[in-house]
Order: sequence, then structure tokens, then C-alpha cells
Amino acid sequence: MSIKITDLTPGFVGEVSGVDITRPLNTDQVAALEAGMDRYAVLVYHDQSLTDDQQKAFSINFGPLEHTAGGNVTKAAERRLDAYMADVSNLDANQQPLARDDRRRLFNLGNQLWHSDSSFRAIPAKYSVLSGRIVVATGGHTQFADMRAAYDALDAGTKADIENLVCEHSLIYSRGTLGFTELSNEEKQMFKPVRQRLVRVHPVTGRKSLYLSSHAGTIIGWPMPEARAFLRDLNEHAVQPRFTYAHKWKQHDLVMWDNRTTMHRVRRFDETKIRDMRRTTVAGDRVTVEQMAA
Ligand SMILES: [Fe+2]
Repeated sequence: MSIKITDLTPGFVGEVSGVDITRPLNTDQVAALEAGMDRYAVLVYHDQSLTDDQQKAFSINFGPLEHTAGGNVTKAAERRLDAYMADVSNLDANQQPLARDDRRRLFNLGNQLWHSDSSFRAIPAKYSVLSGRIVVATGGHTQFADMRAAYDALDAGTKADIENLVCEHSLIYSRGTLGFTELSNEEKQMFKPVRQRLVRVHPVTGRKSLYLSSHAGTIIGWPMPEARAFLRDLNEHAVQPRFTYAHKWKQHDLVMWDNRTTMHRVRRFDETKIRDMRRTTVAGDRVTVEQMAA
């Protein structure tokens, strides 16, 4: 059985067959998948019924796992999954849908805004690996935007203008957009803004991409309203249908994407239904810009 990757969207989303990721992979298989990620940016696998341990073992082929601490308002005692599994479900620790006004649910609604996972961390994520354990029949699609294609389509003047810009990213900004502004002092400290370049260069392919995210709240050296207006404009450009793909989940699908070159968001669904999605995150290995001293 050899790995085959076919186009779902040419050069952006590939569909993988010929591999059982519940089992240990050999180095050739890992290299083929990593090359696929460099070529596409989003890879879709079907019929991969994974345990959490199998998902972590698969993910770690691509680098160390990111710890989930600092990325949400769920308290350790409330967690449904272990600390290396990002719980992207709508469930509490008893496997029941969170109440409409539950603070954790309201915070998680931020996933409906276009973002790149962990852009709020000083060293942001490399890949995300999302497993659909229980999917909903209607809605809940995950959309992806190709930020390399979006960058390529900018005019030369805009490319020159943004080349060296640095943004500040924080969960405070993305949640603030939704009016989720009540944070404890501990949360404010945890969500302290970090700096990220607006234009990133892929370490393997050398391709440039726009590094946007709902977590981006300002541009260093710019008045905030001007920065927000400009970032909103760039976002509008980047999520045009010609740059996006929507994944409609089937049970046991697994989707992995490169956070360095894509944005994504989940579409709304009936949250009285159980949607059990579990993410592992492959940590990045470098800052995009030096961070300010605290
Ligand atoms: Fe996400």
C-alpha cells in the first residue's frame, strides 16, 4: 500500500489514500505526507477511527505536540481530554452539550472567526490535526483559506507596504470582536499579546503567505483603528471564494492543515447536537519576530 494524494482543490487541498494512520508510520510515509503538506497545505483523510493515543502518536511524526495551556478559559478540573488534546467539541466532561450561556461555549464561538491556530502564542503552531469522532448531520463544516494564493494575488504596492509589518495577536482581540470581554486578571495575563510578522516565508518551499488571524488586533507603530481597518480589508481579500475550501465532515475523517499558510473557521451548527472533534497541534519551532521583553 503506497500513499496517494489527489487534488480536491489543485495546489491547496489534497485527499490522502493508501495509509492507515492508526498504525505506526515508516520514515518514507512520514516524508510523503510532509511533502504533501508542503505542496498542498490541507490534507484530508477518510475512515481513520482513532483513539486519542493514536492521534497523538500520528501527530508527533511531524514534530513535538503543543500543550493546550493558555489557549482557552476551561479550567483544568473541567477538562474532558488530556492536556495535549485540544477539545474542539461542544461537550462538557460528562459528554453533554454545553449550555447556551456556558462561558466555555461562548469562548469557543471564537472558532467561527477566521483564524490560524495558536497565532496568539509567541511560537505559533505548525500543523493542526483534527479528528471527527462524532460529526453533525447539518452545518459544522470547516472552511480553509489559502494564504499563499491570497498573498500572490495582492498588487505589488500592497506587497511592498506589508513586507515588514508586525502585528499583535491575542485571544483578547479575537474574543473582543464577539463582545467576550470579561476576563479575569489571570486570563488577561495568560492572553498577553504576542508579535507576529504579517508576511511569512515557508521554511521549505520559500513561498510567501499572509499571516492573518482573528487574533490579530493591531499593527506595531500604527494607530489601532487604522490597523484594524487595514487588517479587515486584507481579511476580506484573503477569504474570497477563489481562495477557500469547505470540508464537510463524515465520521472518522481527519484533516490536517499548515497553520503557517492557511486560515480556517468552523461554520455554525445546532449545538444541542453532539459534535465531538478533537485536535492535536504540532508545535512550531521558531518565532516569526523577536518578542518584546515582558
Ligand atoms: Fe482553529
